[in-house]
Amino acid sequence: MSETVETILKRRSIRKYTEQKADEETIKTILRCGMSGPSAVNARDWSFVVVNDPEELQKWARASGRAGTIMAGSAFSVLLCADGEREFKRAPEYRIINGSIAGQNMILAAESLGLGSVWLGIWPQQDKIDVQKAYFGLPDTVTPHSIISFGYPAENKTGQPHLDYEEDRVHFNKW
Ligand SMILES: Cc1cc2nc3c(=O)[nH]c(=O)nc-3n(C[C@H](O)[C@H](O)[C@H](O)COP(=O)(O)O)c2cc1C
Repeated sequence: MSETVETILKRRSIRKYTEQKADEETIKTILRCGMSGPSAVNARDWSFVVVNDPEELQKWARASGRAGTIMAGSAFSVLLCADGEREFKRAPEYRIINGSIAGQNMILAAESLGLGSVWLGIWPQQDKIDVQKAYFGLPDTVTPHSIISFGYPAENKTGQPHLDYEEDRVHFNKW
């Protein structure tokens, strides 16, 4: 099995983190992996708000409802945004797919660097979108998509990978 396949198969959501901070190089590597995913017509229609300052993180967490409990314990959390200025005008909804790919790339990069992470959904829940738009004063063209929290794991899920290959979900050559 390749290292990449192993990383994908062993990943689980991690919601509890140690006190260890993530250095800037690690954060930028994770973001770079997000930016290296495919995007429709290469629109690259995402933007990221990275919060790693401990005080700012606590403030943001307090403003973010239930997800805030997880965010507050993270080394850093990222607000993944869809950027309407850059979207493909003929099929703007691609921006959500493009953002999801970036997010998953970041999660897998983090896993391979020894950090845990969890996806915290925002879009399409309008109340959560409104909270994030107001908190960061986002431009009208920018839609908050998801929050991803990252940190060094303080819970161990290594014994609980999703290993099942679900035969009944797969159709070869015909439905
Ligand atoms: C779109 C999306 C939204 C999610 N929102 C939350 C959330 O708000 N809070 C949370 O704790 N986990 C959230 N998750 C994580 C899922 O609960 C988790 O991926 C799922 O239970 C499978 O577990 P695993 O990631 O460990 O494989 C979300 C995942 C996705 C893809």
